[in-house]
Amino acid sequence: MTSDEKETIYNLLKLSSSWVYGYKSPKFQGDSIAFDDDVIEFVEPKPAPSSDAMATEVPQSEAIDIESAPPKVTGQQPSDNGGITIESICSKISTCRNCVLSNTRTNTVPGEGVQHPYVMVIGEGPGEDEDKTGRPFVGKAGQLLDKMLAAIGLSRTTNCYIANIVKCRPPMNRTPMPDEANACAGYLQAQIHILKPKFILAMGRTAAQNLLKTNTGINTLRGNWLELQFGNEKIPLMATFHPSALLRDERLKAPAWQDLKKFREKLLAEKPDYAEVFYTQQ
Ligand code: URA
Repeated sequence: MTSDEKETIYNLLKLSSSWVYGYKSPKFQGDSIAFDDDVIEFVEPKPAPSSDAMATEVPQSEAIDIESAPPKVTGQQPSDNGGITIESICSKISTCRNCVLSNTRTNTVPGEGVQHPYVMVIGEGPGEDEDKTGRPFVGKAGQLLDKMLAAIGLSRTTNCYIANIVKCRPPMNRTPMPDEANACAGYLQAQIHILKPKFILAMGRTAAQNLLKTNTGINTLRGNWLELQFGNEKIPLMATFHPSALLRDERLKAPAWQDLKKFREKLLAEKPDYAEVFYTQQ
């Protein structure tokens, strides 16, 4: 393939990613790429070298392996957000038709919180109350979530942003299907990209498994410091039980509290005053 052909395909992918999700994913940001031709110049065949001539051949270390040679990097692209804002992402979400969940939703539920959150809290998907109001975590589980966050000095009005894996309610509150989560993943990526949270708290199995791209169960994942690989960065992430699970089974409250205390320890270690505004508002 020629460098022009590669560049055309790359630009098409870049354009369609921006068009669908309203932002360029990390894969298309940063350094611009100069592509090489895969065409090997024709060189008139030489007679087979004698064993003496072999000694003067180009050393192996200088030979270019077309498969593994990295693309050359030329110039820098501007590192601003290209006019993308949380509002522009929400507006894209509001008209999204990327999956079947859009057929049955009342409102999209993009997320809510502060513009520069210390922590991004990520749940599974809207339930009935969220679908009615267009706001995340406002039903019974949401009220418990607010209490859990308040216990460690966090809230959606001072230092958090709350979002979900899918932005439309799955019928009967079923778990989102993998294709639905995938169809929505670009919006979550865009939100993380713009908000740049220092930490992520994943609420429940669906959030943790989709973020970490794993099938490991929540009992194993929860309470451990993990990392979300995001472009070239790693965002520290902890998973804990979903508040709905705590409402169904009281016995999960104690381990969830252990997780939250461990989460708070690190938040404090990195930024001792992270909850100052939260406590002054109480
Ligand atoms: N459960 C979630 O995972 N998210 C919400 O927004 C509400 C309930």
